[in-house]
Amino acid sequence: MRGAKILGTGRALPPHVVTNAYLTTLMDTTEEWIVQRTGIRERRFVDPGTGASDLGVTAARLAIERAGLTPKDIQFLVFATLSPDMFFPGCGVLVQEKMGMDTIGALDVRTQCTGFLYGLSVAEAYVKAGFYDYVLVIGAEVQSTGMDLSTAGRDVSVIFGDGGGAAVVGPSDPGRGILSSHLHSEGKYARELMAEAPASIEHPRISKEMIDAGRHYGTMNGRYVFTHAVRRFPEVIREALEANGMTLSDLSIVIPHQANLRITQAVAKALEVQPEKVFSNIEKYGNTTAASIPIALDECVEEGRIREGDIVCLAAFGSGFTWASTLIRW
Ligand code: UT7
Repeated sequence: MRGAKILGTGRALPPHVVTNAYLTTLMDTTEEWIVQRTGIRERRFVDPGTGASDLGVTAARLAIERAGLTPKDIQFLVFATLSPDMFFPGCGVLVQEKMGMDTIGALDVRTQCTGFLYGLSVAEAYVKAGFYDYVLVIGAEVQSTGMDLSTAGRDVSVIFGDGGGAAVVGPSDPGRGILSSHLHSEGKYARELMAEAPASIEHPRISKEMIDAGRHYGTMNGRYVFTHAVRRFPEVIREALEANGMTLSDLSIVIPHQANLRITQAVAKALEVQPEKVFSNIEKYGNTTAASIPIALDECVEEGRIREGDIVCLAAFGSGFTWASTLIRW
């Protein structure tokens, strides 16, 4: 069977920078609390009228260009987001239309923080199997329109930001590129990090009462998420290495989902790898959920942090709970 590798990456960050100082004007919080507990100094918010599909398109254009391709070459696309432009249809078809692509298949993934890695595993499998040659994977989020920016929502809303990232996957020699994907879920924790509404188990799916109760905002059991994250990240990274007969010393870099700087630091400590081997850019963008890994990957490529032959591990944990890893020989 042939291999599958990432041919190009791209990212899209809205120009509007939202500092911690600005958030202190909206809610009862402090710059110190945010920096100490999360490592975040600023994040980006979209201007009204920009959807996750728009951020995805901008990132995708760059990824396709860097892969040396055009949108017409893409044979299948996957869009991962928890913040689609509308309830249905998903963002995948909007990208197909906005990029003037042929009537290719467009799949939407709903696994939140792990969405990009779940999407990448679909691309990996299709390309390795020879089903398609070029698959586009996008992770993009507009979190800012779904957050309670008052004191009541401060534990969630200081963490999240908007952004998009993309990668094009294409054929490679066997043993080069994406080596394996490892995907997990544990739905008994679904309610620990969720946005309940609009909800199809309610009629209507969204009502004034639901809005008054804030049920359309994301809610999070922060400590619970933290505890599970620091266990699952190292576990799924080790799983990837073991499946490929490698050890931690083979790793060139880990690119974790940017959930919280303290989680990233705890992962480095648990794995006993040098902190600089675990990439972090959360201070600039906050937690951009499905977008955080492709944004980070694109920055690593641009900064020369990843070289040909490097062993790169992408890893994520989040709402669902879901967790995942992707091991790559770059
Ligand atoms: O992609 C996965 C996404 N989620 C995560 O990664 C979240 C993982 N969890 C965390 O990162 C942390 O749990 C948080 C950063 C969310 C919270 O940190 P914590 O150390 O677990 O704080 P806490 O929730 O236990 O709250 C401590 C205090 C509380 O006050 P009291 O009860 O001690 O008086 C909160 O009300 O901090 C208060 N607090 C805040 N204070 C200022 C909560 N949010 C804020 C805030 N500013 N934004």
